[in-house]
Amino acid sequence: KTYETILVETHGRVGLVRLNRPQALNALNAQIIAELDAALDGFERHPAIGCVVITGSEKAFAAGADIKEMQSKTYPGTYLDDFITAWDRISQKRKPIIAAVAGFALGGGCELAMMCDFILAADTAKFGQPEIKLGVMPGAGGTQRLTRFVGKAKAMEMCLTGRMMDAAEAERAGLVSRVVPAAELVDEALKVAAQIAGMSLPIAMMTKESVNRSYETTLAEGIRFERRVFHAMFATQDQKEGMSAFVDKRKPGFTNS
Ligand code: HXC
Repeated sequence: KTYETILVETHGRVGLVRLNRPQALNALNAQIIAELDAALDGFERHPAIGCVVITGSEKAFAAGADIKEMQSKTYPGTYLDDFITAWDRISQKRKPIIAAVAGFALGGGCELAMMCDFILAADTAKFGQPEIKLGVMPGAGGTQRLTRFVGKAKAMEMCLTGRMMDAAEAERAGLVSRVVPAAELVDEALKVAAQIAGMSLPIAMMTKESVNRSYETTLAEGIRFERRVFHAMFATQDQKEGMSAFVDKRKPGFTNS
């Protein structure tokens, strides 16, 4: 399948999507979101793919939702189209997704990165929610996810002033898992993704689901969910294989069963 606003590659068991609207610093219009969603669905259905990486360019992961597209929107129009709801589908994928962020991740770009399972940042990354300067506020989860990830003080300051965080601050605050030199970002993301894709896919998917539960429920319910899923894992061949391989001092060969 060919796309106009993204580039899609596979590297072994890893799917890679590069956001590709360089003339607009990867501003996220309806087309790029629809194409990204379609590409991710393709990877969800592809049985050989175990992990996905989303990246942008050196200059920008994405500089936000497309302001030129939003400029003339009206309230009844946004309500009728359920504007932004299409983005939610990206946060509902079941396979692990890594955001590899270099340069600007602003507004909807920061929100898209936060919809992924974790963010690997280049030392050039800059995160921000500058919507308030445009007379709006974050609309794709920024006021909610950023607050949970970095705490109220930083989230509130960023959303109220539009101040950007650099990569070092983002790592200190817990927004990104790690910072790597910009030149190594995509290779490092592919390496981490290949490591994840080498695990049992159903176990990795259940792990993702369980970690995400912690954002949706109380501690007691989250622990109960974890326990149920953990017990269920003993019904898999991959549990037998993983533990036998350890005992036999060999590498496991998971079969996703
Ligand atoms: C549309 C954008 C854009 C955007 C950049 N461009 N960001 N177009 N929507 N979000 C376009 C510019 O208009 C310009 O096109 C080209 O990309 C290059 O951008 P420059 O501004 O010339 O680059 P530079 O001077 O390097 O500045 C980079 C920048 C700046 C600091 C990232 O572009 C910027 O502030 N962008 C907007 C960031 C922002 O406000 N994001 C939040 C959007 S609101 P031309 O044709 O002029 O060359 C949002 C709402 C989310 O995301 C809520 C729901 C998702």
